[in-house]
Amino acid sequence: MNNLPKNILLGLNVDHCATVRQARYRHHVLDYGSEVEPDCVEIALLAERVGVDSITMHLREDRRHVQDSDVERACEKISTRLNLEMACTSEMIEYALQLMPHSVCLVPESREEVTTEGGLDVAGQQERVRKVTEAMREVGILTSLFIDPDVTQIEAAAELKSPWVELHTGAYANAYYHDGRQRELESLVNAAEYAHSLGLVVNAGHGINYQNITEIVQIPHLQELNIGHSIISRALFVGIEQAVREMLVHLS
Ligand code: PXP
Repeated sequence: MNNLPKNILLGLNVDHCATVRQARYRHHVLDYGSEVEPDCVEIALLAERVGVDSITMHLREDRRHVQDSDVERACEKISTRLNLEMACTSEMIEYALQLMPHSVCLVPESREEVTTEGGLDVAGQQERVRKVTEAMREVGILTSLFIDPDVTQIEAAAELKSPWVELHTGAYANAYYHDGRQRELESLVNAAEYAHSLGLVVNAGHGINYQNITEIVQIPHLQELNIGHSIISRALFVGIEQAVREMLVHLS
């Protein structure tokens, strides 16, 4: 670990913006557009203007926050990269092939979770994941596998020749104010080293905020951090542009 500048890219996850909209409008049959506030596409466009490098949207099976029309409008309007987070289902494969985002991030999905809680079990369901990675590779969509910082999962991701992994930083973020923070950080550092040594591009995300970012950037080989909750929350006080700027300070 060192303190050299990292030049890490910033991906903004706008799901929580859609969550706020759905809290008010979920029972309305609407063709969600920029007039229904807060619009997660509008937030994405503002964030891009101040230097966000990609936009992530998670289209969940139960459509609890982001809607199909959000993803489609984002795909049309954003000028950076769209990273579609999705489950490994036939429905989502079809959807991604029609949409043609820059990348897809494969995540586990279960209806009970408020947000994505654990990494994808790539090792335990390799054939299922392979179906997605191969379908995406054929059409030139990059695949990122959202995995825990675990040797078995990293090796399984490398075996599937997934170009990217996203290391799940949730356990570290949860331990930040408790015991085990150093252990979780070391586990991320080791996972990043190992994934990089196997030729995987390393991204990371989940639970990253304005406090723990100062340690997170010590993880080696990071290409991009995907951050949602903290930036969207900070935007309530200072606006999205300033919230993004305050995070970007830590990445270069
Ligand atoms: N990366 C992935 C794969 C996610 O599912 C999420 C959202 O749960 C994030 C990053 C962003 O997490 P947060 O909103 O805690 O910053």
